[in-house]
Amino acid sequence: MAKLLRSFQVSPLLRLGRYPSFATLHSSSFRAAPEDLDRSKDGINADVNWDELGFNLVKTDYMYVMRSCQGGKFTSGELNPYGDIKLSPSSGVLNYGQGLLEGLKAYRKKVGNGFVLFRPEENALRMQRGAERMCMVSPSVQQFVHAVKQTVLANKRWVPPYGKGSLYIRPLLLGSGPILGLAPSPEYMFLVFAVPVGKYFKDRLPSVNLSVSDEIHRATPGGTGGVKTISNYGSGLKAQVEAKYRGFTDVLFLDSVNKKYVEEATTCNIFIVKGNIISTPATQGTILPGITRKSIIEIGRDHGYQVEEGLVSIDELIDADEVFCTGTAVSVTPVSTITYCGQRFQFKTGVETVSHRLYNTLTAIQMGDVEDTRGWRMEIDE
Ligand code: COI
Repeated sequence: MAKLLRSFQVSPLLRLGRYPSFATLHSSSFRAAPEDLDRSKDGINADVNWDELGFNLVKTDYMYVMRSCQGGKFTSGELNPYGDIKLSPSSGVLNYGQGLLEGLKAYRKKVGNGFVLFRPEENALRMQRGAERMCMVSPSVQQFVHAVKQTVLANKRWVPPYGKGSLYIRPLLLGSGPILGLAPSPEYMFLVFAVPVGKYFKDRLPSVNLSVSDEIHRATPGGTGGVKTISNYGSGLKAQVEAKYRGFTDVLFLDSVNKKYVEEATTCNIFIVKGNIISTPATQGTILPGITRKSIIEIGRDHGYQVEEGLVSIDELIDADEVFCTGTAVSVTPVSTITYCGQRFQFKTGVETVSHRLYNTLTAIQMGDVEDTRGWRMEIDE
C-alpha cells in the first residue's frame, strides 16, 4: 500500500494557470535540402559523449523522405541529408493538425555487426490505424519498416555502443499538400529521422514523481486519444509545464468523464502493482495502445503475475504497492511518488520490485541478451 507522505499545497495562482509563460515559439522558415548525399562521414566517429546521453536532439546525418502522389499512395522514398523540410503554408498538418508520430529504438548488437529493432511492424500498424482515424494516406508496413532500416543504416555512426543507449527513430506522417477549406490533405509526406538517446527523464532519474491533473484532460471518448496524433502531445503541454514548474517530473491524466479513472501520463502508459496483480487502464479509445505496454502485459504474465486491463481508479492507484510507466522513450520507469489533491503518496522502488524485474526482461529481449521466443526482434545487417 502507498505511504502517505505529506500534504502538498497547490498555490491558487498555479491553479489559475498564472505561472510564468514557457510558450516561446521559434519561427523558422522551411527550406529544401537539395544537396546530394555525402557519405564521407560514414567512417567518422559521431561527436557524442556516450556516457552522458539523455533524450536531447542531436542532428544526425540523414533522414528518409517519401511523398504520396496527389490523392494517391506512397510509391518510393529516399534518404536526404538531415535538415529542414519545405512545406506549403496551407498544408493540412500546419492548418488542421493532420499529423502522426511514432517512436521506436535500434540497439547495437552485443556481438558482431548490425543492429536490432524492437517490433517495428507494430509501429507501422499503429500509424496505419492513426491514418485511418485522421483520413490520411499511410505507408504500407513494408514501406515503413524499409524506411526505418534505411534510416538506421545511413546513421549507423550515431547508434550508441552496446549498453550505452539506443538510436531513437521518429517516423512522422504529415498532411503536406495545400488545402484551404477543412478537408483531408491532397498529399502526404512520410519522414523518418533518428537521434542517439539514453534515459528519457531529466537528470536520467531512476524513478519519477507525478502529479495528477484534475483540471486538464488528455482525451475524450470518441476523440483521438487512442491514436498517436501530434496534437495529443501539444494539448498535454500546459499540464506538463505546470507540473514541472511545481517540481514534478510529469503529469498523470484522469478520464474526462468521471474524473476518477487513471488514463496515462503525457508520454507513457501507467501500471499499478498490488500483491500479485498488475493492472493497467484498458485501451478503449482514450489511452494510447503502447507497444511497450503490450509487451509488458505479456512479459508480466510470463513471470506469473495476474495482469488485468480495465478501469483503474485513483483510489486503487493510491492503494498500490508499486506504480510504473511504460513507453518507448521511458522504457519501464518506476514512479516513486504521486501527488493528488494536495497529498503525496509514496510507492516502492528499487531492485526488489516487480517493475525492475519486468524492466530487466524487456531490455534483455530488446538488446538481444536472451532468446527471442516471440519474434519481437528484427535484425538489421550492416
Ligand atoms: C515515445 O515514447 O516514443 C513517444 O513517442 C513519446 C514521446 C513524447 C517521447
